[in-house]
Amino acid sequence: MCGIIGYNGKEDAIPIVIDGLKSLEYRGYDSSGIAYFWNEKIKVVKEKGRISELEKIIDKEDKPTLAIGHTRWATHGKPSRVNSHPHSVGKVTIVHNGIIENYASLKEDLISKGYKFLSETDTEVAAAMIDYLYKEEKNKLKVLEKLEEVLEGSYALLILFEDEEDMIYAIRKGSPLIVAKSEIGNLVASDIPAILDYTKDYYLLDEGEIAVVSKKDIKFYQEDKEIEKELLTFKFDAGSAKKEGFKHFMLKEIYEQPRVIKNYLDHYLNNMDLIPDLSLYEKIHIVACGSAYHAGLIGNYLFSEYGDIEASCYVASEYRYQKNFIDDKTLVILISQSGETADTIASLRLAKERGAKTLGIVNVVGSTIARESDQVIYINAGCEIAVATTKAYTLQVLTLSLCAYKLGITKGKIDNKLAKELKDAYYNLPLEIEEILKLDYKKYAVKIAKSKSAFFIGRLLDYCICEEGSLKLKEISYIHSETYPAGELKHGTISLIEKNTPVIAVITDPKIALKTISNIKETRARGAYTLILKTKDIEVSEDIYDDVIEIETLNDLVSSILTIVPLQMLAYHVADSLGYDIDKPRNLAKSVTVE
Ligand code: G6P
Repeated sequence: MCGIIGYNGKEDAIPIVIDGLKSLEYRGYDSSGIAYFWNEKIKVVKEKGRISELEKIIDKEDKPTLAIGHTRWATHGKPSRVNSHPHSVGKVTIVHNGIIENYASLKEDLISKGYKFLSETDTEVAAAMIDYLYKEEKNKLKVLEKLEEVLEGSYALLILFEDEEDMIYAIRKGSPLIVAKSEIGNLVASDIPAILDYTKDYYLLDEGEIAVVSKKDIKFYQEDKEIEKELLTFKFDAGSAKKEGFKHFMLKEIYEQPRVIKNYLDHYLNNMDLIPDLSLYEKIHIVACGSAYHAGLIGNYLFSEYGDIEASCYVASEYRYQKNFIDDKTLVILISQSGETADTIASLRLAKERGAKTLGIVNVVGSTIARESDQVIYINAGCEIAVATTKAYTLQVLTLSLCAYKLGITKGKIDNKLAKELKDAYYNLPLEIEEILKLDYKKYAVKIAKSKSAFFIGRLLDYCICEEGSLKLKEISYIHSETYPAGELKHGTISLIEKNTPVIAVITDPKIALKTISNIKETRARGAYTLILKTKDIEVSEDIYDDVIEIETLNDLVSSILTIVPLQMLAYHVADSLGYDIDKPRNLAKSVTVE
């Protein structure tokens, strides 16, 4: 969702802030803007659309050394210049990530005090509120501290005061902010990629803390007192946030999977003490959103199958509001690439309130879910830039698979011989994926690209993988796509199958292969184009498919990681053949920090 960058230093701030905004484009946005001091006044330039539209209207003569910038993903009010950030009211100019939930009542109150509003946004209300508080209470730190009592919801704010030319103020609640010193000057950003060109060291602003960023130094305050903060280091390659010759980040990230999986296994499979002991719990709830939820579906299956434990998987936006039977014998696993997904955070807090133990499976180090969970497993995917997740999803599945593997061994469900075979198979995964990546997916992709809709079918574990394959296809190619447990399609949805409708079937489990094959025949009889993704051990006669992709036969614990790769490649090539902006699909955001 929205991105934030601020710079205060000795260089020309505009290109630094514009480049920072570009590095945050992946989060998803529909307009952008910048504010800077020029001729002792704050100048705001903003525009709907891509950052290139903003660049066109910035005065090339302006060379400020302090600026704040923002990419907006519309929540309150449509994408438009007036609704874009920054917003200025009185002496105050701000950029904002998050949502001010009580903005309507605050707005009424501020209107009664004489404030006028130009936009439909909650952010303009926050700017007016800061301006109002500043008129009442001249001390800026006190104003920002008071803000926490007044604003409900989530926010990461950068604030400029017209009467203090050399300073950026930053405050957050819910939405993340990092602050960094570099050779060119000081930076504040919503996310790591915005600072990586200048430094890998950063401070993570905590809730209730204020950062005051001047040209010389950065000071942190909490409850009126200056505090010291720990300097953190981003451990991955700065290169991991660059395209490195690939046409799209998504393709690059698909191809990175063998490497990140190898590193992951070297770290965790070599040291299984780092994987928590799930046998301590009576039941497991897995809670997540989007692709992380799909990873959770697989974990759910593997936990029951190999760990012999009662497991259930929930969409976080439902879980937080439904009746949940959890207690101190329940482990609630929260899966999140960003660690900042609003509904997943709310579910984590609810689980803790009810006394359950919590485990976060997270990519972004120091994110809210990582910090608030009782235990955390970092998936170590490095920066993932494409909105459609690939490598982070795969590592989430691998993490759940290792948890199930350990649980199976602890409970005696996996004997020594199988444990050894599985260990070898895990270590072989990077090579298997490299082989799969060599296949030609374009020839299937062009057939699917002609269709308005597609269907993915599979049973049990294959169904879970289909859910992710289908999401990959629809989010980047805009082809309507649905997933069905193979046996369920005939209960209504089969009416949508017509000549050449793609049906992509996954079959990796010999015990239910024949059942899925019957279901494929039902769709083919109605004219479907059938593409089968299957393991080598499963035999299918040529008359039931148009195309087939074969992968190595492996145990479920390992194949659950491998099988998605051809579906990622398929989705990518469908979208690429249609010429879409694959890394930034319309309407989507990488990190969803609102409910
Ligand atoms: C967004 C992203 C998805 C992601 C989901 C959950 O919708 O576009 O790719 O799976 O959020 O994000 P998280 O950061 O919690 O894994």
